[in-house]
Amino acid sequence: MCGIMGYVGRQEAAPIIIDGLRRLEYRGYDSAGVAIHDGTGLAVTKAEGKLARLAAVLEEHPLAGTFGIGHTRWATHGVPSDRNAHPHTDPGGEIVVVHNGIIENFLVLKEALAAEGAEFASETDTEVLAHLIAHEYDGDLLEAVRRAVGKAQGAYALVAMAKAEPGRMVAVRMISPLVIGIGDGEMFLASDVPAILHHTRDIVVVDNGEMVDITPQGWRIETLAGVAVERDTLEINWDAAQAERGGYPHFMLKEIFEQPQAATETLSGRLLDDGSVELEDVHFPDGFVEALDKIWIAACGTALHAGHVGKEVFEHLLRIPTEAAFAHELRYRNPLIQGVTLTVAISQSGETADTLAAAGLAKRLDSRLLALTNVVGSTLSREADDILYTRAGPEIAVASTKAYLTMLLGEYLLALKIGRDRGVIPPALDEALVRGLRSLPTKIEEALKTEEEVVAVAGHFVGHEDVYFIGRGLDHAVAMEGSLKMKEISYIHSEAMPAGELKHGTLALVTEGTPVVVVLTQRDLYDKTVSAIQEVKARGAFVIAVAYEDDTEVLKHADEALRIPRVHDLLSPVLSIVPLQLLAYHVAAARGHDIDQPRNLAKSVTVE
Ligand code: G6P
Repeated sequence: MCGIMGYVGRQEAAPIIIDGLRRLEYRGYDSAGVAIHDGTGLAVTKAEGKLARLAAVLEEHPLAGTFGIGHTRWATHGVPSDRNAHPHTDPGGEIVVVHNGIIENFLVLKEALAAEGAEFASETDTEVLAHLIAHEYDGDLLEAVRRAVGKAQGAYALVAMAKAEPGRMVAVRMISPLVIGIGDGEMFLASDVPAILHHTRDIVVVDNGEMVDITPQGWRIETLAGVAVERDTLEINWDAAQAERGGYPHFMLKEIFEQPQAATETLSGRLLDDGSVELEDVHFPDGFVEALDKIWIAACGTALHAGHVGKEVFEHLLRIPTEAAFAHELRYRNPLIQGVTLTVAISQSGETADTLAAAGLAKRLDSRLLALTNVVGSTLSREADDILYTRAGPEIAVASTKAYLTMLLGEYLLALKIGRDRGVIPPALDEALVRGLRSLPTKIEEALKTEEEVVAVAGHFVGHEDVYFIGRGLDHAVAMEGSLKMKEISYIHSEAMPAGELKHGTLALVTEGTPVVVVLTQRDLYDKTVSAIQEVKARGAFVIAVAYEDDTEVLKHADEALRIPRVHDLLSPVLSIVPLQLLAYHVAAARGHDIDQPRNLAKSVTVE
């Protein structure tokens, strides 16, 4: 996830672009850059770090010109640095490009270009696009971009300018968002509405698979196949703060709804058509996977809850003993990390002090260290032997949602990779999982449609001070995360436990009307969990179940059901968590809380 901004008109472009990027910094802020066309030539300035650094450089060395594009980056390929910052050009400086998202086949394209003698100045996939467009360019930017993107695969949005065509911007949307802003003799392009709202409220939304051709006088959309598209202009009447949240009342809700796209990006380029799993920064030494005795997972909070899912998945698929441990416990536990081990340290930020300490300990005990993290260049990623980036994009709300979901996907990818190398996953199961993983972005969209039912169900929680989440196996792992979401933002005391554990104590707390959430997806454990539902129902509990849409039994036992699409049981956590995130959100909203910044908590805990 990154922020893109483009301007063509009569005003100085650089200040307008910087102002727009500032409003897109929520999309990433590890480096930034602009390219300005002054009517005769192109000039590029970029700087590692937050946008303020770029703004300071431009203040000292201003770039004049009334056409330009800019970018605030959230690294996916290549560490944050001046070199890897956008915009990127071809070696001759004829074409300049900013880009958001991932070009899946960039290595293949890069190697082909390199074989013809091309030299690259950065490690990014974006630079490959600049080369490709320049290669195709014969005086018409639109056609050159069309031919170039015909060779690229992935989920992305890009904007390009050509030195020979001042005042023209060409853009493409393939999943990553893009909007056009219509001014008077000036036009804007951006990843999101807030970037341009101070200049115009007339917006055109670009759809997937569409190209945009823009000059100061107007805009044109056509499909990649060249068919002209008619599109109405929208008039936006949000205020500026609301716009930064994309019209959502809170970042948390926005991030919940970004999950289909986040999942697409996590999987992008990693599950290849030939069935292989390509994890670009995971390079196990020869013989390592075959000899692996044990997997340790170290993490805190939501990341550890993702780890509990990972434990179940690794043990089921790989038959390798796996322990998911609180990083703050592990670091002082004198753990039995011995033999051939892999420690998977999971952390959204990659900066949590306890997780870093546990990871450091594992390394000192000769474990191989794999970082499953969202932040490129984070301390954890620098210390790890292998890295699996979740690519969820910046997460602003303290309560983690899309980072959790993409951590789960990272674990499935890792399990498939290791399982294949060990030859332990039966082909039919392997194939079902690959098919299931590919279907997830669409199914997450479906799961988000539970919101209406969730709002109705949330009313049952608002007046309560104690709620319980239960499930078995993978459903228990999800129940833990659902419960954490509930308590951290609604401030309702919430506990999660395996459904079979209820009767050993907690049942004493269940009285008339106590809300109990049951996650009920695992076929093998279904009847057992139903017994637990009956135990709480007999004490007057109000039971809300998360169940598959085709489960015809569930409402014989539960009072309400939140339905998710059917998927392979091993993958169900990716869907069953969605209504639980929405439930926590709507209960907290109904209680009037500061959802994005709950009391006493912090997004990243960098102290012990
Ligand atoms: C804090 C946050 C949690 C998060 C945990 C671990 O406690 O409030 O939401 O799960 O840290 O953070 P990490 O960045 O390591 O995933």
